[in-house]
Amino acid sequence: MGLFSSKRGAAASSCGGRQLWILLLLQIMVLVFVVGPYLAATEEFNGWLEGGNLRRPAGSPVVDPEALRLRGVNLPELNELAKQLLVRNSLPPRNRDLFPALSDDRVVIVLYVHSRPKYLELVVSSLAEVRGINETLLIVSHDGFYEEMNTIVESIRFCQVKQIFAPWSPHLYTDQFPGFTPGDCQSKDDADRLGCKGNADQYGNHRSVRIVSLKHHWWWMMNTVWDGLEETKGFNGHMMFIEEDHYMLPNAYRNIQILAKLKQEKCPDCIAVNAAPFDVKSRGEGFSKLVAEKVGNVGYTFNRTVWERIHDKAESFCTFDDYNWDITMWATIYPTFGSARYTLRGPRTSAVHFGRCGLHQGYSKSRSTECRDSSMRLGIIDEGDKVPNIDPRWPVHTFPIKGYSSGFRGWGGWGDKRDQQLCFAYSSMYSNPIIPTDH
Ligand SMILES: *[C@@H]1O[C@H](CO)[C@@H](O)[C@H](O)[C@H]1NC(C)=O
Ligand SMILES: *[C@@H]1O[C@H](CO)[C@@H](O)[C@H](O)[C@H]1NC(C)=O
Repeated sequence: MGLFSSKRGAAASSCGGRQLWILLLLQIMVLVFVVGPYLAATEEFNGWLEGGNLRRPAGSPVVDPEALRLRGVNLPELNELAKQLLVRNSLPPRNRDLFPALSDDRVVIVLYVHSRPKYLELVVSSLAEVRGINETLLIVSHDGFYEEMNTIVESIRFCQVKQIFAPWSPHLYTDQFPGFTPGDCQSKDDADRLGCKGNADQYGNHRSVRIVSLKHHWWWMMNTVWDGLEETKGFNGHMMFIEEDHYMLPNAYRNIQILAKLKQEKCPDCIAVNAAPFDVKSRGEGFSKLVAEKVGNVGYTFNRTVWERIHDKAESFCTFDDYNWDITMWATIYPTFGSARYTLRGPRTSAVHFGRCGLHQGYSKSRSTECRDSSMRLGIIDEGDKVPNIDPRWPVHTFPIKGYSSGFRGWGGWGDKRDQQLCFAYSSMYSNPIIPTDH
């Protein structure tokens, strides 16, 4: 103690007052310019998270459930984690420093994921090799919150990337709707006899959280990326949608851009373009023609005009008793588009669906052909898959669409009025409330 203070005294007297002042000034500058902004940023962020009263930075358009309630749109009560996710959704994209400008003719890529990190790693590694991806924004939409999935996305350095988390994902709630609520009916329970809660579907089955989550996520995501996010709500171009088990080939982005430009002229009945054939087992015909066919689930790409037409049919989407978003689209929405319900694609696939059964695992016997794992064949990318391989001079070959019969009423799983109401609320988050006509 004595030694310490005497040394300090000696230093002070030998260095003199001026040098001490300079040292002090330097320290102040470090505090003000280096530590300050960091502290301010984290303080602000913590401020947003505090209490139930979410404060947001000006201009950040996350959903405000209270304001919506006043407009008659009732979203379920948020739990603490969900409140934090809602705030995270308003954070700006990462990597804006590395990629400060987006290209005008960009196709925004939306990757929607659930909880398979090994799959996501593979998909992200494929996206890193996609030519042109550094010109656009990648949005990753999560159904639930899984730390491993989040970490993988945060490691992305090859383009601007924005993460969003569905705050009402059934996976976030263990004891309240949209999760399973104590007192809810299960499977074929008789609601009247047992006094449990819920409406059975047309086949007598009650809601299952795992089964309804995907259709909910898809609809929340569509509404949010087109109409909710500051980054995209003024965007009039195309968005391409992929899932966590869709391996993208290096030419996928450039091919999609070419197809999107050709669509109108080559195929007036096309409302979308696709990165892969409707039949996920097919790698394409390999002939010198473009293909017009039914819109498939791998890399489907459309613009705002088409989204608006889909959104106009929110009521059909939300009330049709089928837990599959894609079958719901096919049975209820596309038929209202008349003959214009085709997609345009190239004769060689630009994406490979490798998951076993996709996200539908085990729920639909009719789709058991999708239950395969083609990951063994991944890793071999032909030289031809690295460059665009679509020739604008090719003619269009059309595979006629077989629609659902008019009596088709869906595969069920979507009979609970609460699920339908949540779906309606999603449709109204960023636009005028959509009021169900007969509920
Ligand atoms: C994107 O990557 C390509 C090839 O690596 C490079 O030539 C181009 O300058 C990059 N563009 C942007 C906007 O980073
Ligand atoms: C969007 O795509 C549809 C279908 O191809 C087309 O009719 C429409 O004109 C496009 N909208 C814009 C703004 O380009």
